Amino acid sequence: MAKISKSAAKERIEALSTELKRHNYEYYVLNNPVITDFEFDLKMQELQALEALYPDLALPDSPTKVVGSDIDTGENASSGSSGSEEALLRVDKNLVVPSEPEPRAKFEQIEHKYPMLSLGNTYNREDMEAFCTKLEADSGGELEYSCELKFDGVAICLTYIDGRLKQAVTRGDGVKGDNVIANVLTIKSIPQQLKGTGWPREFEIRGEIFMPWSAFEALNREKEEIGEQPFANPRNAASGSLKLQSSAQVAGRGLDCVLYHLLGEDLPFKTHSEAINAAAGWGLPVSELSQVRKGAAQVLDYIEYWDTHRKALPYATDGVVIKINDLQLQKRLGFTAKSPRWATAYKFKPEQALTRLNSIDYQVGRTGAVTPVANLEPVPLSGTVVKRASLHNKDQMDLLDIRIGDWVYVEKGGEIIPKITGVELKKRPDGAQKPDFPTLCPDCGTPLVRDSDEARHYCPNQSGCPTQIKAAFVHFVSRDAMDILAGEATIDQLYNLGYIRRLSDLFTLTKEQLMVLDGWQEKSCDNFLASLQKSKGVPFERVLYAIGIRHVGKTTAKTLAGAFNDIDTLAAAGQEQLAQTEDIGPIVAASIAEWFADEGNRSLIEALRSAGLQMKAAAREQLSNALEGVSIVVSGVFSISREELKALIEAHGGTSPSSVSGKTGYLLAGANPGDTKVKKANALNIPIIDEDQFYKLIGR
Ligand code: IVH
Repeated sequence: MAKISKSAAKERIEALSTELKRHNYEYYVLNNPVITDFEFDLKMQELQALEALYPDLALPDSPTKVVGSDIDTGENASSGSSGSEEALLRVDKNLVVPSEPEPRAKFEQIEHKYPMLSLGNTYNREDMEAFCTKLEADSGGELEYSCELKFDGVAICLTYIDGRLKQAVTRGDGVKGDNVIANVLTIKSIPQQLKGTGWPREFEIRGEIFMPWSAFEALNREKEEIGEQPFANPRNAASGSLKLQSSAQVAGRGLDCVLYHLLGEDLPFKTHSEAINAAAGWGLPVSELSQVRKGAAQVLDYIEYWDTHRKALPYATDGVVIKINDLQLQKRLGFTAKSPRWATAYKFKPEQALTRLNSIDYQVGRTGAVTPVANLEPVPLSGTVVKRASLHNKDQMDLLDIRIGDWVYVEKGGEIIPKITGVELKKRPDGAQKPDFPTLCPDCGTPLVRDSDEARHYCPNQSGCPTQIKAAFVHFVSRDAMDILAGEATIDQLYNLGYIRRLSDLFTLTKEQLMVLDGWQEKSCDNFLASLQKSKGVPFERVLYAIGIRHVGKTTAKTLAGAFNDIDTLAAAGQEQLAQTEDIGPIVAASIAEWFADEGNRSLIEALRSAGLQMKAAAREQLSNALEGVSIVVSGVFSISREELKALIEAHGGTSPSSVSGKTGYLLAGANPGDTKVKKANALNIPIIDEDQFYKLIGR
């Protein structure tokens, strides 16, 4: 590091510490990082170097010593009026955190038995070699390393006692974390009960909860569909999902898990790989791609291999972790304040390309959100030629201070569209113009609005903006909605011919009108009309999803259909009643109430009703009388949603009230049942049964 005076170092150390703390908060709590991991790591390295030069200047809570915390203290809430340092810093940077329509739960905090530390990391192969050779010089010979992928998700610590999963705690601040057990139980690969024998009576196993690319892409597609800001990457999506209030919603997120660190007292293993293999035998999900390698050269081979092959993996990895395999040696080496001395990470450099920004298009989405998209000088990147990249929103453009003609860095994070991550200021052409973010909708000319707590600009002309109208039709006919045989091109033609303006117009289309469409003949018209007819039988919950209420995705639509039964009851429910519904947050409640308050929307519902669409949840099929006169209270997390369990109870003749009383027949308790319900059931001598016993009751 170049020479730097003590006073200059002091200033820089303070600035870097503050900045890194803010980035930690944006990354771990808001799940909305504003710089890349690489930029973060560079700043961290600079701070480490300065602190090494002047150890007395290091702050006691320096980010080099303290791991970033995922615990949301509430103090830094995005839309609150908190005067905290973090909130002020965000305002200073003119950054608006997107609103969180998905309510996040408040979790019980649990202190870790063993602190949950981080790992040292480098982007440099020589450093990896030096890490091995230093350890080998001390121990006098080549060592065995467990070489593993570095999974890009959220760290989790699972505790098993007597073979049963008891708690699942996030890293938190390293000392204590959030117990997210209810949500973790929805992850299919994590067993609630271990299989086989021989597991220690009590142990912890740590790993990563992640979202595979396919689930991430599906989630972001749905988020765009229902007018929500998509997640920037699978890590943020995993982290945001894990902290959701509704376990039913988490269950639909496709999260997965890989476990890589077994801890406990007096475990019978000599090596890390032996411990992990044993865990696999107990039914725990471990990586099949880990390998034990001997010496630095073999470690580097592993890194080399995965630097290219990781691109074909179904999930995101950001590097390779190596761990000394010998557990006794691990113990001897111990830990620094922040990380183990027996393990380190090699991080893959993100693949970047530098190219020129030629112009910016402003695209209007289905819900009116206006997204700036960069037109680039075509440039090869990770096997394809990139011509366009997302700039996300105006905040992002301001943050990058981007100008037309700039040389920009483009990265592909696996997302469908690459993103611009930086501007090469040294190459900025003279007189480069700052782009003007439009004030009017590029499609219909309506003045754009910006919700105070959202980073995006919207065209509010939902019922008159052609792009929004056409997109609403495309959503309405889609497979998960009404499943009508029409794609974007058909909708485009029907709209341009003036045949469709309101969703209900689809149901009055005639064969004569359809025959005019490009390439349509008798058969295609008949197929289309038959699919229209068939859509009249589509269940109410899908109709609710299809009509395109902002923030109402498939899961929310299902919840609403279950809770309100028919469209009239739903339309009559005020915002307050909606917000009291289980799994419906205040933002979603407001959006639904607002939608039904609109005269045009109400008349649309009438038109769709006249067309014959389902406006009522189907009457539940009666399966048996096994529970005739029996009342069963349901509490906790099960292998199916509570809604589905309640439906089963009713289908077998029973009832399912929400609280325990003298009339309650059984308390059906899943994992993590409500304390009050269990206490009351015990006090009243009401039998508590689990899911398996319940199935026996109904003869399954
Ligand atoms: S071992 C005591 N192994 O990366 C250290 N960590 O940047 C135990 N990570 O905090 C961690 N894949 O959340 C380990 N194969 C792997 C990993 C891994 C991902 C995460 C973990 C850790 C972070 C450090």
